[in-house]
Amino acid sequence: MSTPADVFAPAKLGPVTLRNRTIKSATFEARTPNGLVSDDLIEYHRLPAAGGVGMTTVAYCAVSPGGRTEGNGLWMRPEAVPGLRRLTDAVHAEGAAVSAQIGHAGPVANAKSNKATALAPVRFFNPIGMRFARKATRDDIDDVTAAHADAALLAIDAGFDAVEIHLGHNYLASAFLSPLINRRDDEFGGSLENRAKVARGLVMAVRRAVDMRGAGRIAVTAKLNMTDGVRGGISTEEALTTAKWLQDDGGLDAIELTAGSSLVNPMYLFHGDAPIKQFAAAFKPPLSWGMRMTGKKFLREYPYREAYLLRHAKLFRAELTMPLILLGGITNRETMDLAMAEGFQFVAMGRALLAEPDLINRIVADGDRHSVHSACTHCNQCMATIYSRTYCVVTGAPDSAR
Ligand SMILES: Cc1cc2nc3c(=O)[nH]c(=O)nc-3n(C[C@H](O)[C@H](O)[C@H](O)COP(=O)(O)O)c2cc1C
Repeated sequence: MSTPADVFAPAKLGPVTLRNRTIKSATFEARTPNGLVSDDLIEYHRLPAAGGVGMTTVAYCAVSPGGRTEGNGLWMRPEAVPGLRRLTDAVHAEGAAVSAQIGHAGPVANAKSNKATALAPVRFFNPIGMRFARKATRDDIDDVTAAHADAALLAIDAGFDAVEIHLGHNYLASAFLSPLINRRDDEFGGSLENRAKVARGLVMAVRRAVDMRGAGRIAVTAKLNMTDGVRGGISTEEALTTAKWLQDDGGLDAIELTAGSSLVNPMYLFHGDAPIKQFAAAFKPPLSWGMRMTGKKFLREYPYREAYLLRHAKLFRAELTMPLILLGGITNRETMDLAMAEGFQFVAMGRALLAEPDLINRIVADGDRHSVHSACTHCNQCMATIYSRTYCVVTGAPDSAR
């Protein structure tokens, strides 16, 4: 057996070398007034960069106005590039790399707040936006695909080292993959091969655009659901087949493995406490009343444990040869070493680095003592803060970060 990789040694992600194998996963920042970069957003990403992470991920840079989750979200357009360039410069100055998560929120998009039509595989009601998403036509799918390619080119112009294509959480590509949501009977519905066309098409459009601009400029990764955690949704078996197709298509440098549905089962993404009260407080009536009454059904509790997605992810590791990024409940050195020992190339961390942006440096300084443990209590109250300005309610970070 080969020796496991050192999580803190430099590593190649496609054409890019990261200073270590840790990645800050996308945690929606809510710091883009008018859909543009603010100093606050730059600081949000400078902190984990200064804190030692190999690469940070700018959450959810939508490929079009209607693809945003809400109306203040950033969408990729020439006007956004100067601000994004300041952000990538600030992260690079701290020695880290930076990825842009690009995607279309599909049925998760808040059409009311976006003031733009949402798209879904079928006409679909979004209870948060209180609007229907329109059934996407072939032309819509072509437009969204082209918009992903354009977004990747803008990411290159803005100095990003990678783009992460959002294929998870029942956003548009993932909604097409889901047999529960995708009830179409055309070339994009029915068989898995048909349902996977949008996801595969987006990836290859991005790959072609990036390669045309000069292969070797940036890495292309995707965040893919291993399961929706919903009966009738994307199963692990189908997700694995999709991952194999994505591997064979050759468009990706790595896959970040995720799970859950922002539409119907968000807690499956996170595990831990269900912040029902905090969620209800984030909305106005009647949505807040609805959340109080039905919150337990929408925000189901799953017991938290370290590396809670490892059991699923090991199935993918066993069947795939391409680089994989383990995500979900990685907070300390032992779990990082376990991920390396299980053959994953990178670890991605959301809440732990939101709570303590300097966690990586502290774990490195701790050496073999393994005595640094995360301050994240997986109370998940940070989830509700995405509707105002994202922060950790336990530590106050990123505002109070050292
Ligand atoms: C406050 C918050 C916001 C998030 N926003 C996003 C997002 O915009 N896009 C995304 O793909 N995942 C998002 N996530 C999910 C994380 O990237 C990650 O998948 C999840 O938190 C599990 O990893 P962890 O156990 O390391 O926190 C968010 C998570 C949190 C806590």
